[in-house]
Amino acid sequence: MSGVRKTIAVLHGDGIGPEVTRAAVQILSDCAKAFHHEFIFKEFAFGGDAIDRFGTPLPAETLAGCKAADAVLLGAIGGPKWDSVALDKRPEAGLLKIRKELGLYINLRPIKLRPSLRGISPLKRDRIDDCDMEIVRELAGDIYFGAHEIKGEGKHAKAHDVAEYSAAEVERVARYAFDRAAARNRHVTSVDKANVLATSTLWRQTVNRVAKDYPDITLDHMYVDNAAMQLLLKPAQFDVILCGNMFGDILSDEAAAIAGSIGLIPSFSRGEEGKPALYEPIHGSAPTLAGKDVACPLGAIYSASLMLHNSFGLEIEAQWIESAVDRVLDHGYRTIDIMENGGKLLRSSEFTDHIRAELSDALVHSERYGWGV
Ligand code: IPM
Ligand code: MG
Repeated sequence: MSGVRKTIAVLHGDGIGPEVTRAAVQILSDCAKAFHHEFIFKEFAFGGDAIDRFGTPLPAETLAGCKAADAVLLGAIGGPKWDSVALDKRPEAGLLKIRKELGLYINLRPIKLRPSLRGISPLKRDRIDDCDMEIVRELAGDIYFGAHEIKGEGKHAKAHDVAEYSAAEVERVARYAFDRAAARNRHVTSVDKANVLATSTLWRQTVNRVAKDYPDITLDHMYVDNAAMQLLLKPAQFDVILCGNMFGDILSDEAAAIAGSIGLIPSFSRGEEGKPALYEPIHGSAPTLAGKDVACPLGAIYSASLMLHNSFGLEIEAQWIESAVDRVLDHGYRTIDIMENGGKLLRSSEFTDHIRAELSDALVHSERYGWGV
């Protein structure tokens, strides 16, 4: 059987970033070996680590390496060490720049409550049944990319951040959300603050216009404050949530908590078809957990399986990984963030080892699991 050959740019970043990406790279390496693929991992400095070593969060070599790769795997960036630096010199500025430079205007965050993790959702059981949604977040515009300025100091200081959207920017991400919904439960909830903001008014008009091309998809609009509440009251009402950059950032952390832990949620960011997409867990660099071998590697591991599925078209391999994780969770193995009564608490590296053991077990018993390899 002939495999694929892919180059993956790996940006470890800061805090727990290196630990969780290492776990994902191990799993991807297992995958390459088992399915006769060749994955070439190229590591590049990024975020605070790159500031310390090269004076900039996104060195030119890193950007060039990402552009030349088939996909990018990113850990997390930021930390207290760089918190007092000016906004445009911080690790986060590197993240915004790489999103812009790679043309990544869509960010997808799947939020799914796994049956074995029901007990750790902060919501009552009857509320979380069927919690399975995708957040499609616009990633290249909004208040993130307008001018940010602080003038003066102390009592007389003033600041502004400019939010901007063009109809074209809204339309391209809206189309993506409708396309996703067409392959799911055919329902898009568009989130805005159209009762106050001009950008949201344009957002809503544009989404309504795009919706005419998708007669089979039901569309509703929700103000962001209500959306934050509805997520808690009845998460099962959502299928695809479409939102701008700022609202998507906020709502995705809330939705992640409902699904059990922010440590579990992967994401991908993409632009035009055929260009490298970027895969990263949605959690931050969690500096207080770094180096302790306790961080949940699942956000990164699920990001790797998203990569296999979305960038490389390797569906069976992605399934192989996700079902191995399911079995590890079914056996009660847990990292600290997803620990519950009766669970077996493991260090992060032990948890990854259990997944790897399940992966190889599935190969040995490939008939039982139906992998056909
Ligand atoms: C995220 C993060 C980033 C964002 C930060 C680190 C700049 O919170 O990806 O959700 O706000 O987009
Ligand atoms: Mg965020």
